[in-house]
Amino acid sequence: MSYTPQMREQIKKVEATRTERVNKGHYERMSMDERDEVLKNYHPDFIEASMRPLPVGPNKDYRVPHEFADLIEARSRIEGLGFDLEKFDYDVDVLVVGGGGAGASAALLAQEQGADVLMVTKLRFGDANTVMAQGGIQAADKENDSPTIHYLDVMGGGRFENVPELVKALTGDAPVALKWLEDLGTMFDKQEDGTMKSIHGGGTSRKRMHSARDYSGAEIMRTLRDEVRNRQVPVIEFCAVVELLKDEDGKVGGAILYNMETGEYSVCRAKSVILAVGGSGRLEYQGFPTTNHYGATADGLVMGYRAGAELAFMHTMQYHPTGAAYPPQILGLLITEKVRGLGAEPVNIDGEQFVYHLETRDVEAAAIIREVKERQKGITTPTGMVGVWLDSPMIDMIHGEGTIAKELPAMVRQFARFGVDIINEPMLIYPALHYQNGGLLIDENGMTNVENLYVAGEAAGGIHGGNRLMGNSLLDIVVYGRRAGKHAGSRAKDIQVKKLNLDHVDAYHKELEDAGVDTGGRVSPMLLPRYTHKIEVDEE
Ligand code: FUM
Repeated sequence: MSYTPQMREQIKKVEATRTERVNKGHYERMSMDERDEVLKNYHPDFIEASMRPLPVGPNKDYRVPHEFADLIEARSRIEGLGFDLEKFDYDVDVLVVGGGGAGASAALLAQEQGADVLMVTKLRFGDANTVMAQGGIQAADKENDSPTIHYLDVMGGGRFENVPELVKALTGDAPVALKWLEDLGTMFDKQEDGTMKSIHGGGTSRKRMHSARDYSGAEIMRTLRDEVRNRQVPVIEFCAVVELLKDEDGKVGGAILYNMETGEYSVCRAKSVILAVGGSGRLEYQGFPTTNHYGATADGLVMGYRAGAELAFMHTMQYHPTGAAYPPQILGLLITEKVRGLGAEPVNIDGEQFVYHLETRDVEAAAIIREVKERQKGITTPTGMVGVWLDSPMIDMIHGEGTIAKELPAMVRQFARFGVDIINEPMLIYPALHYQNGGLLIDENGMTNVENLYVAGEAAGGIHGGNRLMGNSLLDIVVYGRRAGKHAGSRAKDIQVKKLNLDHVDAYHKELEDAGVDTGGRVSPMLLPRYTHKIEVDEE
């Protein structure tokens, strides 16, 4: 569905101000007070009524979004099923759960330590947010940059709420992680002299975003998946984990697996479990469309929480400022921040820029919501969706003709499929649910407060504080995947798993009952999302 005649008429106002906007340089950044104000008034995280306190578990009374609380206030999907926990279908050193970038990194490093590793993944190996990440990966590898400067940017982006030790590990390991990926074969964009190309992201004080065009995550996943296959790490696809197992000492010692195709269960004993299962974007918090892959249903958080692992920052979600608002077929599709990194500005119905284009994501998203909801300066599509323009044609004016085609080939194709030419026409955007800033709290080795339970990637909490910066997710999956894999793998020889049980699940059910929680027949983990959205098309 290309732009309607009415929308094309509206685009003329964007075109009318474009040259002046390109020539004038940058729109002023917000002051700290302005940032606070726009966040408090317009960012979805600050809507009190969107959250409720958890009634049970390690974070009792902690307020989290209702959609997530519903899964915490649910019973186990294996309740009533009997398992012989003295017989194992699989018996390994390290069980890696999840087939994205964090899982693959963890599996490789654990195997390097000599551990016997098994990877299971709910969908296909590689079906994860990693492959959908577009814009790049941050690492301080330039002369004018350092892990310390990167650290300060991450802390600032996270509203200075991040766990400092986790940020130190993230930014300190970043150059090593980048080199590791390159050595494995990831083809990052290079300058003519062979050095890495890098640009700014929102909230970065240095150009440290390294990309592979606008499919950086797919390129990284390609490399990692090949490596896992080449090193013959066993991988079982369409195999979810539905509950963790603990031993008599209360340490994690394996998991119950579920075959998504046959519905059969199996028992895996493992000296350590690494949950690299991703986030919860498919819970579609507050009805926002999502950039996330189909399997992002918070499974790891639910199982970890039942097993006693603490949550952190689950009250903060990331709404990517630039989700596609049109055409409706790609509603919520990620429009990479690289588009703004290359200079494209958000513009309202009158052709005016209303926010600096590289504010941190939380602030940028809140400013767009304000422009639409409060100032009523949005553009309404035939489906009733309202958005603002992202003026992509500016990029070629700034950097020279052909830049968009070269730097954003996937984006050009995605829109061309529906008759929108982003080289010559702006894109219509609105914030989309993109990332869960928090998760299960980890330490620098990726371990939770439950012994032998590790978490890596989006399911982990504490690294990004209240708001993650672009490019630090592709980074954290590699850094913490590697750290968790290395730690779990190296400890395997010293761990003896005692008799396994599911007592923590029974205890959790009792806690729910004692707290008088009405679980409404819900079971979790959810495994696959529910769909309830319906788009009404106005046939004009
Ligand atoms: O905008 C993007 O390309 C997304 C990157 C990220 O979330 O890090």
